[in-house]
Amino acid sequence: MMKKILLSLFVGLLPMMALSAGGEDLFLDHIKTDVTNKPSLQRGAQLYMNYCMGCHSLEHARYNRMATDLDIPEDILMENLVFTDASFGSLMENSMSEDDGKAWFGSAPPDLTLVARVRGPDWLYTYLRGFYKDESRPMGVNNVRFNNVGMPHVLMELQGLCAEAPHPVSDKRFDPLTGQTITEGGCEHYEVEGSMNQSEYDEAVYDLVNFLEYTGEPFKKDRERIGWMVFAFLAVFLVIAQLLYRELWKDIH
Ligand code: HEC
Repeated sequence: MMKKILLSLFVGLLPMMALSAGGEDLFLDHIKTDVTNKPSLQRGAQLYMNYCMGCHSLEHARYNRMATDLDIPEDILMENLVFTDASFGSLMENSMSEDDGKAWFGSAPPDLTLVARVRGPDWLYTYLRGFYKDESRPMGVNNVRFNNVGMPHVLMELQGLCAEAPHPVSDKRFDPLTGQTITEGGCEHYEVEGSMNQSEYDEAVYDLVNFLEYTGEPFKKDRERIGWMVFAFLAVFLVIAQLLYRELWKDIH
């Protein structure tokens, strides 16, 4: 009897053990997104349109809504950020078919409108900074957050190509005596130099993730603002209700 219980416990725990074993070396770097930071969202949108849109659509979002939310004038948007023949009011689609995507990359590039809701900002931030050289892969790169990823390192001209898997930012350590850095977080050796240094690239990716956080919930700002207005209303109403209560009961006691 005891043996059976132990055995079933063990079998029940097996999947958990498998999970923890697989996730051991997959770390996350942390950021705090801010969808009220419009300059950041604008820079993120620009990066997205230039480097991602060709493969990943944002088909649950519309150009005109984005332009309004991000304070981008219509003519600037249409001239500089729209590379298809889409109109101002259309959905943000691209022309890559799922079959082509599968044939070219092994798996089709998914739509990214809601990716920040699914993966979370930390995951995206780590992923987009986590490409490194791996000759055994078809695209010549692998990723610390997405083992054997099918996506090429499309931001290589900005980041450069890391020679081996980057470290978590929390790995940054100083020699306590001399104050010198022993290990930098992130990428330690670059195989190919990019046009940005590490902190510039981190910031660019922050903007990009911030933008994806916005597309995942374009009304987040409104939701929060309305929430505060509701609280304000309730506070005022509480005073009115209290006064009314006193007025109604004053002759009864
Ligand atoms: C050349 C085509 C291409 C471009 C350009 C591209 N990607 Fe990808 N991306 C892919 C493919 C293919 C996958 C699927 C990888 C897989 O499943 O192995 C992918 C996967 C992803 C994923 C993982 C989605 C998930 O939840 O599984 C994210 C996030 C992502 N890309 C973000 C971006 C961003 C941000 C950019 C722009 C900086 C970008 N991609 C540019 C091809 C591309």
